[in-house]
Amino acid sequence: MDLVVVENLRKFLGGRLVLDNISFVVDEGEAFCLLGPNGAGKTTTVRVLLGIYRPDSGRVMVKGLDVHENLSEVKRVIGYLPETPSLYDRLTVYRNLEFYGHLFDIRGGELDSRIREVSRLLGIEDRLNELVGRLSKGLRQRVAIARAILNNPEILILDQPTSDLDPGMAHSIRSTIRELNTDGGLTLIVCTHNLQEAEFICSKVAIINRGRVVGYGDIKELKRRLVKIHKFHIETLDPIRNKVHLFSELDYVIGAEVTSDYSVIVSLNRKDLISDLITLMISRGLRIFEVRYVEPSLEDVYLDLVGGHGEA
Ligand SMILES: Nc1ncnc2c1ncn2[C@@H]1O[C@H](COP(=O)(O)OP(=O)(O)OP(=O)(O)O)[C@@H](O)[C@H]1O
Ligand SMILES: [Mg+2]
Repeated sequence: MDLVVVENLRKFLGGRLVLDNISFVVDEGEAFCLLGPNGAGKTTTVRVLLGIYRPDSGRVMVKGLDVHENLSEVKRVIGYLPETPSLYDRLTVYRNLEFYGHLFDIRGGELDSRIREVSRLLGIEDRLNELVGRLSKGLRQRVAIARAILNNPEILILDQPTSDLDPGMAHSIRSTIRELNTDGGLTLIVCTHNLQEAEFICSKVAIINRGRVVGYGDIKELKRRLVKIHKFHIETLDPIRNKVHLFSELDYVIGAEVTSDYSVIVSLNRKDLISDLITLMISRGLRIFEVRYVEPSLEDVYLDLVGGHGEA
């Protein structure tokens, strides 16, 4: 089922068009990524989804309901981790969660068992009596995620969940987030510019640049479809180092990187021309041992679509 549908969303902020016809669909149970550089429009999109901003045109539906006409119903099914979550430093973890629970009208025994449940999921059950102000950044982020799922949402929106964390902590939090999806069945929308994060947690992506969707779909499929440079790893039985000049004669070979005396990685602008290349190599006395297609990475697609920079 389509849980979230964003259709032709346009939004002006400060007199500037910051979302330009954004469309995407998130299915139930999916881990979806809004991927894009700084200033691309990820947070603005999420704010429209949460009903904080009204769209100037287009619409946003959650569970078949227009967000702006059904705000209270929609808020009940969404959990949200903002880019910079604010917690009460002078309260304990438990009191922070309790305070938030009251905002959702969860009380008494139900609230206590919910706090214990989310703390267990986030691995902070033994920290409940500590002051939030004394926690490390990683643990604070775990508390903030616990808070975001306190209302037992069906959709969890995470805006840059690991941007300020060291690699080890970032990895451990990504694993926890992934489990919320794979084991807990939570539908995720993750905003990030971190390609590793996108690939680790999510299976589907909308790549946003300057307010537009420039790439959209299943990550694996997108990599195959959009990559314009195809890399092959070729191993030979004859030394190749002194034969690389062969490749510079061919206009379909974009690059050749010799990786050992008997191996080279060639980049072609057309995948099917690998057979021509191999035929040529054999005709020039190079016996072939192995040819392997190098799977494109999400980074290849991203850099191709977005370039090395976001906003000009
Ligand atoms: N309140 C505002 N008034 C005017 N312009 C804004 C406002 N909020 C955001 N913008 C602009 O809208 C564009 C998109 O911003 P947004 O915060 O959605 O990007 P983002 O993809 O979340 O970036 P980041 O990765 O830096 O968080 C940016 O150019 C930003 O400067
Ligand atoms: Mg943002």
